[in-house]
Amino acid sequence: MTYETILVEQRDAVTLITLNRPQALNALNSQVLVELSAAFAAFDADPSRHCAVVTGSEKAFAAGADIKEMADKPASDFFLEDFFSGWQSKVVATRKPWIAAVAGFALGGGCELAMMADFIIAADTAKFGQPEIKLGVAPGMGGSQRLTRAVGKAKAMEMCLTGRMMDAQEAERAGLVARIVPAADLIDDALKTAATIASMPPMAAMVNKEMVNIAFETGLAQGLLTERRLFQILTATEDKKEGMAAFVEKRPGVWKGR
Ligand code: CAA
Repeated sequence: MTYETILVEQRDAVTLITLNRPQALNALNSQVLVELSAAFAAFDADPSRHCAVVTGSEKAFAAGADIKEMADKPASDFFLEDFFSGWQSKVVATRKPWIAAVAGFALGGGCELAMMADFIIAADTAKFGQPEIKLGVAPGMGGSQRLTRAVGKAKAMEMCLTGRMMDAQEAERAGLVARIVPAADLIDDALKTAATIASMPPMAAMVNKEMVNIAFETGLAQGLLTERRLFQILTATEDKKEGMAAFVEKRPGVWKGR
């Protein structure tokens, strides 16, 4: 597929996806969703890629869903198209780990896309917000749910009700981002982190991702049981045998991915 709104580059075992609508501060229109869905599907299906990074520009990771696309759309179309549902079924559905590398504005759908990632690395210029209320609407790509789970009710409620932005430092203190790095180092740092993840046994990486996500979907007893079962399943892999043998023999593991 040829992409017009994103750039996709392969860096060894890491796929780097760059949102590329600078004229609209990377606003997420339907074409971006179609292209990102295709890029994630290709990444998930490619046995030589094991982690992805999604980033934007220096000024904006993404300034939201595309307001101009939504402005004149009738409510019945939003409902009949189940507008925004593809973000969950196509992007969040990605089984391999991926990181959002955020510089500049991550607003509305941009903040929501960043929160779909397995974790966020923020440049010191990053600004997060859910300003939809100012447009007479509310988050529609997961913001009210993921932001609340990430930073708690008080901050999520304040941000959704006032539309104010959170800077990178506040976002890190609140638990929204894993780490802050100087803006100039953002891509290198994210790629390096992604390369570390990509060097891990791939099935173990997918299972670790699934396990942490299950903590947001279920009660503790069911989550612990699921964790034990997934752990037990991983013990059947060739990479478990290799990983433990490599530890005992004091050498790096060589992964088969099964
Ligand atoms: N949709 C469409 N176009 C957008 C956009 C968006 N979300 N955000 C910015 N743009 C466009 C602007 O219209 C402008 O285009 P023109 O040059 O053709 O006028 C261009 O990008 C540059 O933007 P600004 O001139 O506004 O840049 P700025 O530096 O003055 O301001 C900003 C930056 C504060 C981020 C401002 O652009 C802004 O407030 N953007 C909208 C943020 C927003 O409300 N996001 C939520 C969208 S709704 C949503 O996301 C719903 C959901 O839950 C999924």
